[in-house]
Amino acid sequence: MSATLISGKEIANKKKSEIAAEVEALKQAGVTPGLVVILVGNNPASRTYVTSKEKTCKELGMHSVLIELPETTTEQELLNKIDELNHDEKIHGILVQLPVPEHINETSIIEAISPEKDVDGFHPINVGRMMTGQDAFLPCTPYGVMVMMKEMGIEIAGKHVVVIGRSNIVGKPQGQLFLNENATVTYVHSKTVDIKSITKQADILVAAVGRPYFVTEDFIKPGAVVIDVGINRNSEGKLCGDVDFDQVKEKASYITPVPGGVGPMTITMLMYNTLKSAKKALAKLQNA
Ligand code: GUN
Repeated sequence: MSATLISGKEIANKKKSEIAAEVEALKQAGVTPGLVVILVGNNPASRTYVTSKEKTCKELGMHSVLIELPETTTEQELLNKIDELNHDEKIHGILVQLPVPEHINETSIIEAISPEKDVDGFHPINVGRMMTGQDAFLPCTPYGVMVMMKEMGIEIAGKHVVVIGRSNIVGKPQGQLFLNENATVTYVHSKTVDIKSITKQADILVAAVGRPYFVTEDFIKPGAVVIDVGINRNSEGKLCGDVDFDQVKEKASYITPVPGGVGPMTITMLMYNTLKSAKKALAKLQNA
């Protein structure tokens, strides 16, 4: 058996054209969705991500601002910048690329961004709203995975979902989003005893570990859906996921590739969240 490929690239392209059409309509109504991305320091991976966010923003007709700050920026300077942007009517989304340099407290930065402009969905207000099933900005990578599932018509209710990883950005919210769709969710992580015995029970397995080829064929129940959130470099410097794709594709029913899987969905959902924020801003203006 060979699994059906879930092309994040194709799904993202479809979603992006829908978003572009809505952006155009919103512009006609007098509001251009605006996203600010702040990059502090010179992390090369972060720079790549940020450039790609800016490019997509422009492609979709949005107002895009990239603010590059030196590594030596103080926490207070960054907080002042965020405060200014919280009050800027042209800006509907504020994203501070993580990680920030060590002398800056990440939590203080996340909490300083207005929950109404928190298009990353990292602010505790949005995390709490997501957890209680209220309307919220959902974190882009896990949200992108949910959209992929929906687009592929993969059933979630009653399924056993196993998430490998428990980061605040991916693993934790991913499990919560599946729970919100009535899945039975198990998290496994670096302290879990016998990870494989649990992943083998998964109908849907999400790998968000950050280790090349961590998930091998023996982790998989035949016919499982396998979602690879990893973006790693292997020993030859080639981009690869957390899943040993060539092995696992023979056992899974559906699988996401790397690149071209979850990656393109993350940026797309960021654009979606920025559009959503701009729509809310317009509705507020109209009701004022
Ligand atoms: N660093 C890695 N992923 C992300 C993300 O989704 N948002 C932000 N702000 N930083 C990140």
